[in-house]
Amino acid sequence: MSSNQYVSHAAGYVDNAGPKVVTSRFTHDDSHTLSRYEDTGGYDGLKAALARTPADVHSEVRDATLLGRGGAGFPAGVKWGFLPPGKNPYYLVVNGDESEPGTYKDRLLMERDPHQLIEGCLIACYALGLAQCFLYVRGEMALAQERIAAALNDAYAAGYVGRNICNTNFSVDITMATGAGAYIVGEETALIESLEGNRGKPRLKPPFFPAAIGLYGQPTIVNNVETLSNLPWLLVNGAAAYKQFGSESSPGTRMFAVSGHVARPGVYETEHGITTFRDLIYGDNFCQGIRDGNELKMFIPGGGSAPWFFEEHLDLPLEAQPVGAAGSMLGSGAIVVMDNTTDAVVAAHRVVQFFSRESCGKCTPCREGTTWLERILARILNGQGRPSDIELLLDIGDNISPGPYPVAAHGELEAVPFPPQQTTICPLGPSAVAPVVSTIRRFRHEYEARITRRHSIPVSATSPADMNPADTSLADPISSDMAPVGADAVGAGAT
Ligand SMILES: Cc1cc2nc3c(=O)[nH]c(=O)nc-3n(C[C@H](O)[C@H](O)[C@H](O)COP(=O)(O)O)c2cc1C
Ligand code: SF4
Repeated sequence: MSSNQYVSHAAGYVDNAGPKVVTSRFTHDDSHTLSRYEDTGGYDGLKAALARTPADVHSEVRDATLLGRGGAGFPAGVKWGFLPPGKNPYYLVVNGDESEPGTYKDRLLMERDPHQLIEGCLIACYALGLAQCFLYVRGEMALAQERIAAALNDAYAAGYVGRNICNTNFSVDITMATGAGAYIVGEETALIESLEGNRGKPRLKPPFFPAAIGLYGQPTIVNNVETLSNLPWLLVNGAAAYKQFGSESSPGTRMFAVSGHVARPGVYETEHGITTFRDLIYGDNFCQGIRDGNELKMFIPGGGSAPWFFEEHLDLPLEAQPVGAAGSMLGSGAIVVMDNTTDAVVAAHRVVQFFSRESCGKCTPCREGTTWLERILARILNGQGRPSDIELLLDIGDNISPGPYPVAAHGELEAVPFPPQQTTICPLGPSAVAPVVSTIRRFRHEYEARITRRHSIPVSATSPADMNPADTSLADPISSDMAPVGADAVGAGAT
């Protein structure tokens, strides 16, 4: 039974009322152990799958319309169908690199219910005829790594993983790999590069997606932790039962991590496509409103890379299509809420700074563009912005994401639907444009106020060669390190 409160041993998780597909064991403090897992129906989904043909299991997953939870929301059953026949070996790669700003749901699944994830991997491998799975866990997640390693050892010993699983002809090895702390390795082709022992940099796609050419050049399915964690419940209860939760196009449940200025931030399992942003942010069953009785100013609906939403978007359901049409995305299942005490320019700079630092550097528009965006925002915050900086920010954004950038409607201006165009190899570059365009469109006056009401008048010019690109410190508002670059600098102190 739900307690509708934080669960002390599952940091950040709130046991809210509602259907539980993937978090049902979180209230047990020993939910990560094999004994608790078996006592609560663990590995029954695998046994149910093994009693059916692989094609039948694949059909069940396809019928359930299980949408990927890693960001793009692509149906798992359809993706699995892209594996070309006769190209053995195939691989399953589990994406547990979760590092998007605001996102912390997969960590809980790996820490609290590692056997559920392992069982999900086994069901997927059986459906697809695979014998090798790689489970990639983010480098910083020490507890998740520890729990998964222990669970794998126990599952091998109990005959759930390895040769002749549950006394059948089905055999699979699952290997855990750990990252080294790079956000970009969450992108599936960068993750594959990392698994191969290379630096984690994305591959160009199209033409080849991992399902055609993936790990070690072989067809590879990459799935998110939460996606696979749905499979045990699905195989025990069936697609029809799964579709009783959520909306027709987004069935089941979905985990959302809510952070920022709400009264009760945390991870919640919600009904997919039915729960609205208002339910989640203001509902008693969820975040219980804005902290300290403040007003909502803005929120990021899908992790740091999503364009920002506002008050008028609160009644949208947590469903990809309407959120995309309104100019953003649900992305990684993370909502960052900001109240009316938030400085829009500071908040935009903070997010851009993350993407700038995490750029892998492989393509120029992202490597140079995100750095440039970050430095311009820093000098605006330092009181040394130029009147031309707002247009310059938009222009740099247009070089990374040409054409109208996805953004929410504002006044007479209509929403631009998601996704953006890109001149980059992967979507990280365009992610840095989201906070810039979102805040300039909505809070241009905050930028203008910072540019026209200067904190200080720089007293010495700094040539580009003298600048230290690593120094973007905002601590000293009268620092001249961030003096504008170039001869046209207004008020650059070119004395
Ligand atoms: C920059 C970037 C970071 C990403 N990070 C993650 C991540 O941490 N976890 C994840 O599952 N997917 C992440 N993705 C999405 C993956 O590339 C991939 O689409 C996903 O793992 C597929 O799983 P799914 O179909 O089950 O959602 C990221 C994508 C991009 C472009
Ligand atoms: S967009 Fe950025 S992170 Fe992606 S490949 Fe290019 S440089 Fe690397």
